[in-house]
Amino acid sequence: MCGIVGVTGTDKSLSILIDGLKRLEYRGYDSAGVYVNDQQGHDYLVKRPGRIANLEAALGEEVHGLAGIGHTRWATHGEPNEANAHPQYSQDERFYLVHNGVIENYADLKKEYLSDINFVSQTDTEVIVQLVDKFVVESGMSTEAALLKVLRLISPDSSYAFVLMDKEQPDTLFVAKNKSPLLVGIADGYNMVGSDAMSMIKETNTFMEIGDHELVIVKPDHVTVKDFDGNEIDRPTFKVDMDANAADKGAYPYYMLKEIDEQPAVMRKLVQEYFGDNDIAQINEEMLKDMANADHLYIVGAGTSYHAGLVGARIFEKLCGIPTSVHISSEFAYEQPLLSKKPFFIFLSQSGETADSREVLVNVNKHNWPSLTITNVDKSTLSREATYTELLYAGPEIAVASTKAYTAQIAVEAILAQALGVYMDKQAAKDFDVKHQLGLVANGMQSITDSKKKVEEIASRYLSKSPSAFYIGRGMDWSVSLEAALKLKEISYVQAEGFASGELKHGTIALIEDQTPVIGIITQDRTAGLTRSNLEETQARGANAITIVSRHLAKEDDTFVLPDVDEVLTPLLSVIPAQLLAYYTSLGKGLDVDKPRNLAKSVTVQ
Ligand code: F6R
Repeated sequence: MCGIVGVTGTDKSLSILIDGLKRLEYRGYDSAGVYVNDQQGHDYLVKRPGRIANLEAALGEEVHGLAGIGHTRWATHGEPNEANAHPQYSQDERFYLVHNGVIENYADLKKEYLSDINFVSQTDTEVIVQLVDKFVVESGMSTEAALLKVLRLISPDSSYAFVLMDKEQPDTLFVAKNKSPLLVGIADGYNMVGSDAMSMIKETNTFMEIGDHELVIVKPDHVTVKDFDGNEIDRPTFKVDMDANAADKGAYPYYMLKEIDEQPAVMRKLVQEYFGDNDIAQINEEMLKDMANADHLYIVGAGTSYHAGLVGARIFEKLCGIPTSVHISSEFAYEQPLLSKKPFFIFLSQSGETADSREVLVNVNKHNWPSLTITNVDKSTLSREATYTELLYAGPEIAVASTKAYTAQIAVEAILAQALGVYMDKQAAKDFDVKHQLGLVANGMQSITDSKKKVEEIASRYLSKSPSAFYIGRGMDWSVSLEAALKLKEISYVQAEGFASGELKHGTIALIEDQTPVIGIITQDRTAGLTRSNLEETQARGANAITIVSRHLAKEDDTFVLPDVDEVLTPLLSVIPAQLLAYYTSLGKGLDVDKPRNLAKSVTVQ
């Protein structure tokens, strides 16, 4: 994880770095640091444990520069203290390096080449910067040659995005990546590097991709891309259409609440983007053909995206009749199941950068299997490397806990499944008016987000003081239970689980104690009665029962009653009270809702 930025060619460098780091803070917030050089013999290294705000407060008036690098850290090697914060630097304080990733063979490199060095940190990154220095100072190599030599020594299973500065060439950023994301930003009279486009969007909307195993030399007026053999590569730039203000919190206390509230607008935006004035979604025909030719759809994702896949798989099977399975990317990458003869892969990833998912995609590409990435970030790694991309149009999601990306993923899956089903002449798809239904969903979401008072009350009465809680449901309601429980776990630290309600009696009901909150999700006609009975069984053992129920299935004392929509789209509504329950439980406990402990938004290490 971690976020990195670099800039060269402007006296605004320090403020550009700090602004970029704030926009990257979602990638980790264990520590932060900057190195800036004014190219007149002065340079400054400032690092602090904790948030960017700590770093900002520590910057004295005198700190300034024409070029610099910055880092916000999610700790992998070494505790999050000042010594382990980046930039890391060489013993002679000539080289400074920021790094996102993991150098798997750092201990071997340290032993083989650097036994004479006194290390000041426990990081793998320090090994790299000391090694560059060693090759330059002892072997008289140029910085570029030394870095290249170090890159060749790094084991191929390692991941890195590096920006290196050399005090003796202070206008130059030496840049390289493998697996971890990194982009060059081309600004007016100066250039930048950043972990994502959003970190640079205030300065430019023109970017240049960096490939794995390339060395990029960024100067104020020029960017050179080379392969490891030193051959120059002609790399075009591309534009990204992104609103720099879309990432602002506005009047909201937390991004998560803003993002929950944005969900109705995201549904309407998806309808507009995919349908425009048409009744049929405008989907790439080539892709529909590839999907229709497949004998099995494999959906791959992590965390919340995996949960969105669980819902999507049922929609694809129902509307298209193609067997569809869903896989956790970190498992699939290393324990690949036996595949069908004609697979088609769907990658779900809000960020488009999740390392585990990319690991699967790299293998898929080796076999030339067709693939689609459904992502919120255009031109992200997974988007660039898959055969096809469909976008979520959800706007930047900043809170670590994913909300609007989850519902957008399900909506896009439904739009695609309907289009594919129609393409395959399936009656179930022809009968499903997804455009109209998503309009109903948007209105339904609005009515739920408008009744926050009740959610706040339930959260404070039942969840804030309970160490554990359970969501239960069957079918799609079970899939939503998993996501609902994840939300509660990650931001309010309640030990929450989502159970298939029929499984309770096979073991897990033993966990129910007096006052344990059990939240039943009931939206499916066939299983509503069964889930209700299971909920009653927990009540009989002392549980506090809370219900999230579709209107036509509701009873008088149900807790949250959802507007009716087509059964396959109910997850889009039933998840909203669960997102809000997690939000208010976290808020009630005085936690940092947007930045829960130990987490980062974009998981770019495996
Ligand atoms: C949880 C959450 C994570 C992500 C997961 C995958 O709220 O956000 O579980 O869903 O890290 O991230 P993406 O979707 O970016 O691949």
